[in-house]
Amino acid sequence: MFEAAAIAGGLERASVVIPFLSQHTTAASSSQRLLLPSHKLTFSTTRKNSAILAIRGARFVREAATAQQSAIIRSYGNDEASERQRLFNRIAPIYDNLNDLLSFGMHKVWKRMCVAWSRAAEGDTVLDVCCGSGDIALLLAHRVGVNGKVVGLDFSKDQLQLAMIRQHESPLTSSLNMEWMFGDALNLPFEEGTFDAVTVGYGLRNVADIPRSLKEIYRVLKPAGSRTSVLDFNRSTSPPTRALQEWILDNVVVPVARQVGAEEEYAYLKGSISKFPTGKEQETHAIEGGFSSALHYEIAGGLMGVLVATK
Ligand SMILES: C[S@@+](CC[C@H](N)C(=O)[O-])C[C@H]1O[C@@H](n2cnc3c(N)ncnc32)[C@H](O)[C@@H]1O
Repeated sequence: MFEAAAIAGGLERASVVIPFLSQHTTAASSSQRLLLPSHKLTFSTTRKNSAILAIRGARFVREAATAQQSAIIRSYGNDEASERQRLFNRIAPIYDNLNDLLSFGMHKVWKRMCVAWSRAAEGDTVLDVCCGSGDIALLLAHRVGVNGKVVGLDFSKDQLQLAMIRQHESPLTSSLNMEWMFGDALNLPFEEGTFDAVTVGYGLRNVADIPRSLKEIYRVLKPAGSRTSVLDFNRSTSPPTRALQEWILDNVVVPVARQVGAEEEYAYLKGSISKFPTGKEQETHAIEGGFSSALHYEIAGGLMGVLVATK
């Protein structure tokens, strides 16, 4: 699947080499189910004058990590998670461009704010939960630099594959210490006290159990003073702001998404915002989850919000 995605993305040919199993898979035989700790990926690209791009030691998720995927889906006990996984897999190819269009590029500014408020610093080990195609994780990587480490975690394999390709396509990030992990925000696969900072961008609204997700973030943060910064749509308590947000969703976002065949996917936004906790409720969830302080900041005229919570 990785090979197929690479080819679909404009590459001439792609193959995955798994040294420690002495195995070479091709696009035609890419159905293994492994989350490999280390392997080598090599493919040639038409985009850059057929330059050979070699990614060594990269960790990523193989298409058929289906055993893990089923485990995640089962953990919800309903179809909600699998439907969301399918949704985010489906929109992966258009997700970044559509976000640029729909927010007039502003989502990049809000993501920078989210990263700055996490207080991630040079040399830190940081986690981006629900990383999608990697926008926030890539910003974090610049911030923590060569001595730091960024882990991007998501349960959409298609989004993770795009994130990894984006990292390795740019000379600015290809050599940085980043890891892309397939996993569940409700059951983070890390020891407690692992990270100096944790970010989430437009992910918390999508998880099936928000208080549990915040507890998980609290658990994996290092003790005393480490922070999480959570960016999402704001469920405003101000009627004019809510009316404006709904108007934008109905008259801009969904019609634009319809033009690119993603109406259903973006229509889902409105319902998810209406069920999302308000800023105050998010603060309460964070405090109940163990954080010593939590503040929710409204940004973009109240259309978006960032929850900043300190362990
Ligand atoms: C709207 S996208 C945001 C992606 C990225 N953070 C950004 O800001 O562009 C939400 C992401 O959350 C992921 N997601 C939702 N629920 C999840 C869960 N329980 N565990 C892991 N990832 C999840 C989806 O797969 C999707 O990639």
